[in-house]
Amino acid sequence: MTALHEPHTGAPPTDHHSATGAAGRDVKLAAELARLRRENLYRTRRVLESPQGVRPVVDGHRMLSFCSNDYLGLAAHPVVAAALCEGAERYGVGSGAAHLISGHSEAHRLLEMELADFTGRPRALLFSTGYMANLGVISVLCARGEHVYADRLNHASLNDGARLAGVRLKRYPHRDMAALERMSAGSGAALFITDGIFSMDGDIAPLSQLAGLAQATGARLMVDDAHGLGVVGRGGRGTLDLLGMDDREVPILVGTLGKAFGTFGAFVAGSEALIETLIQRARSYVYTTALPPAVAHATSAALALAVREDWRREHLARLIARFRDGAAALDLPLMESRTPIQPLLAGESLRALEWSRLLESKGVLVTPIRPPTVPDGAARLRITLSAAHQERDIDRLLEVLGQLPARGTGG
Ligand SMILES: Cc1ncc(COP(=O)(O)O)c(C=O)c1O
Repeated sequence: MTALHEPHTGAPPTDHHSATGAAGRDVKLAAELARLRRENLYRTRRVLESPQGVRPVVDGHRMLSFCSNDYLGLAAHPVVAAALCEGAERYGVGSGAAHLISGHSEAHRLLEMELADFTGRPRALLFSTGYMANLGVISVLCARGEHVYADRLNHASLNDGARLAGVRLKRYPHRDMAALERMSAGSGAALFITDGIFSMDGDIAPLSQLAGLAQATGARLMVDDAHGLGVVGRGGRGTLDLLGMDDREVPILVGTLGKAFGTFGAFVAGSEALIETLIQRARSYVYTTALPPAVAHATSAALALAVREDWRREHLARLIARFRDGAAALDLPLMESRTPIQPLLAGESLRALEWSRLLESKGVLVTPIRPPTVPDGAARLRITLSAAHQERDIDRLLEVLGQLPARGTGG
């Protein structure tokens, strides 16, 4: 247990003790912060003084950015921004209540119908964030002590959802279906959980095999396609569409709205029974203020653009190919991925930090990703490409990456 997680013990302290106790706890926090600094794991926030995009102004400097999830370039799209303003005029700013009290608006209702249609499922349910959607679904579907199998590289929110639900979480080696088959045989597994496209690696889950194993074991399959929806598949319909799969094979689909769709929020899509059960019982749905309706209204506009404008995905595919060809010519330690997430493996955190600083000194922004977001020894530059990038941006990125010292990961 780290100092940051010291348990709260004993009876309420007197005033005198509470002062020293609080001060003592702050000393422990400071020591833990110092450790993070020493181990190159300390994180800081950058301040954007412009809209999100490929050329944001960051801490006073115009940068060429390769580290947002705005894969289609919709976060600051004028049509989406205008829809947000129109939504605010029509519905006001705050929703003012939880969905089940009086916060569920026409904008939410329409967007849910559009998302159900988009994903080809009977119903969709909006959540305020993907994190909350994952907590909600897993805790509703699984009883305490049930067996849940999850890819080792799944997003943190899926692991946290399983922990909150008190299930027996078994994490199988990344994409290793033979291991999952061995681990889950005869276990009476309740649920298999996977990212569709892995958030920090950019590779794609073996969904057909997962669906086959889920069926053989009697488990449900839940796919979090936060990084696939909008980006891959016909009209951006995501990883399931890319792999030719439907809702019988994957009954539970989670999507987020703050990535390719450029706005904010998330949804779960599935059967009538699933969605009604979530409405009744998902605590991260019931006990929280509804997403601002104007955001839902803006998301409807973003979704329509994302579906209609195939050129964004086609352009992205060309940029990905250009980047990978250039990186191969430079012998860069690029990970295996054909999606807009193109991680460059650094290994140690210090090296990822140094690479990021060097890029920044040349006007290119790629924040380093370090443990615990990725496994120990697998720190990286998580380079992400956007349809808003131009070919010359990719060439500039390759030019500065070509200047990195010690590009291997060995030492
Ligand atoms: C796979 C995945 N699921 C869920 C989330 C959380 O979504 P949100 O940012 O909407 O909470 C993220 C990233 O943030 C993610 O990468």
